[in-house]
Amino acid sequence: MIKKLIFIILFAFQCLNIKADEGMWLPMLLQSINADAMYSKGLKIPIDSIYSVNKTSLKDAIVLFGGGCTGEIISNKGLLLTNHHCGYSQIVSHSTVDHDYLTNGFWAMNMSEELPCPGLTATFIIRMDDVTDTILNQVNSITNEDERNNKIRVIADQLIKSATNGTQYKAEVKPFYYGNKYFLIITETFKDIRMVGAPPSGIGKFGADADNWMWPRHTGDFSVFRIYSDKDNNSAEYSKDNIPYTPRYSFPISINGVKENDFTMVYGFPGRTQEYIPKEAVRTIIENTDPNRISLRDTRLKIMDKYIRSNDTTRLQYASKYAGVENAYKKWQGEVLGLKRLNAIEEKSAFENKFIRWANDVKDGKMYVNSINQLNELYIKIRPYSIAVDYYTEALKGIELMNFVNNFSKLESLAKEQPANEKAIRDAADNLINASKGFFKNYNASIDREIFSRLIKAYRTGTPAEFEADLSFIDKKFKGDYEKYADYVFSKSHFSTLEKCEKFLQSFTAKKLKSLTNDPAYHLLSLGNAAFAEKVKQPNNDLQKQIELMQRTYMKGQMEMAADFKQKIYPDANSTLRVAYGKVEGYEPRDGIMYKYYSTLTGVLEKYDPNNYDYRAPEKLLELYRKKDFGEYSSNGNITPCFLASNHTTGGNSGSPVLNAYGQLIGTNFDRVWEGTMSDIMFDPERCRNISLDIRYTLFIIDKLAGARWLIDEMNIIK
Ligand code: ARG
Ligand code: ASP
Repeated sequence: MIKKLIFIILFAFQCLNIKADEGMWLPMLLQSINADAMYSKGLKIPIDSIYSVNKTSLKDAIVLFGGGCTGEIISNKGLLLTNHHCGYSQIVSHSTVDHDYLTNGFWAMNMSEELPCPGLTATFIIRMDDVTDTILNQVNSITNEDERNNKIRVIADQLIKSATNGTQYKAEVKPFYYGNKYFLIITETFKDIRMVGAPPSGIGKFGADADNWMWPRHTGDFSVFRIYSDKDNNSAEYSKDNIPYTPRYSFPISINGVKENDFTMVYGFPGRTQEYIPKEAVRTIIENTDPNRISLRDTRLKIMDKYIRSNDTTRLQYASKYAGVENAYKKWQGEVLGLKRLNAIEEKSAFENKFIRWANDVKDGKMYVNSINQLNELYIKIRPYSIAVDYYTEALKGIELMNFVNNFSKLESLAKEQPANEKAIRDAADNLINASKGFFKNYNASIDREIFSRLIKAYRTGTPAEFEADLSFIDKKFKGDYEKYADYVFSKSHFSTLEKCEKFLQSFTAKKLKSLTNDPAYHLLSLGNAAFAEKVKQPNNDLQKQIELMQRTYMKGQMEMAADFKQKIYPDANSTLRVAYGKVEGYEPRDGIMYKYYSTLTGVLEKYDPNNYDYRAPEKLLELYRKKDFGEYSSNGNITPCFLASNHTTGGNSGSPVLNAYGQLIGTNFDRVWEGTMSDIMFDPERCRNISLDIRYTLFIIDKLAGARWLIDEMNIIK
């Protein structure tokens, strides 16, 4: 005990691996874990006004927007604010070359002009209950992982059923801290969401990919939607009779501005972080995963870019795809730089040594020491498989045609049934005809053919030899000429144009099985899939399961160690509702440079270049700037589009409300700075900053540029 005490005293300061402003905290635990820190940083409202089950709280104005973004409610008529890049695919799908809302913006001038968005959803969190004891008490004695998971599923199903019976709510049970805690999350999903407005790309995507993940930033990254409900304010499928939803709460909007050192919090749905992984996992990211993926995506992006810039139809077809591929591509580059600069592997290693020293002195300590040692070994073992997975997903499946033909495996298995069920085959083929129409609407075979030849070559060179599909026929039949091979596949395959594909599907019967399996595109994918299934998938999954188990134990140890040091640790992000808090502040990106915490419209003019696709801006914005026609949204005679703060955020936090000490909306989160993108793995309080759109810029655009004053009139503006 004395030894332990001395250890604690000696290492108390060095061991605090959680740094200032780091953390994405569970809203229902703020009271017990974070209240002191939040008040000392300047929070001015009761903690239970942030999250509460028995009365309305800030959480009632926050939604999971679509699959992976956050949105906030900004009027009592269900008006919803999120990012431009979160509404992007909706904006694109309402756009045509003639009605190019993507380029020119879109603004409904009354509710009847708002555009339905089939498939789009907005999900509120009703409450989150700690069900850890219920679950762990029943599974703690189970040693087999599969058995444990099955049992958890059964318990979870019961919990979900009893929590949602007789309501229109849904629920799920999610693990936190790698299965050391479980929460039951009860949600309400709305399905009639309509597009209300989006600025022109020259505002909403100003700076495009060149500025993405960068400061200084001048992007007006917002779009506006509205939630509709049935007459009783309940969630309902789209109907023209639906009415604007009356939310439990909507954010008051402060136009008083942001000052350096002001308290801020970001309240939203961060997707995934990996703050508690061991050093060998970090090594794989730095040395293998990130560099491999970066280089494979670089190939795709260069080819797409060439086509997008020269043709408007292609630009609309590929805008969303390009943005998706580019976004992670660029982030990974910043991540590698950041991790290297932090000496992340050495840092982890030093922490693990301390962990072991701590564990040597506690009950169950052997188990903890074993977990970290095993974990590192497992990560070394799984490394070649991880590389193979990356080449499979980013090279082979980085080809659109390969993803598309993947859908046809259903047809193959149906045609192989004895006796074949021709009716089922017909139904499947008809479904595929529909899917094909969707696919080819946004497909350019010239782009994909170029990508194909490059990525197949990369797949063969990069996949570790023992996991590779045997594609030696390319050497024999095509003399290793990937261009020739690509020409052959794209000219001979049934699946490279809509016409051929439809013709093939219309006449497909069980007898034609060979014409499917011999199709050069389908054949190639089958080889790739088979090699992956036989050599990679199972061993990778098995290792993954062992990793999960060890990571759970290691996490448990880290939690216990933190408790010994009176330190608080947050669970890794898992797309559940979290609160991050920090303050408005700039940072020093490199030696000798200090970045301010805000940008101004003057910077839009500095970057403006009508000849550069990335830096076009609408004439009207320039005119408003020249006339200084800023309404009530200015600050020191200028408009401030964006600001920086030290809130710990990640992908999924886009669109999150950024709130001041009074819980009023001051901005919308949309990005992080380049020097801080390693925050998903290791946080650096010196350099990790989230980038927010200043709410006054949003209002300025809606009011002055779009002339949609009717929307401002709906909002509760605090002056
Ligand atoms: N980096 C931001 C985020 O991760 C914005 C992404 C959208 N912009 C883009 N150019 N792809 O979502
Ligand atoms: N831009 C990200 C998002 O879409 C946010 C981030 O990664 O910082 O959620």
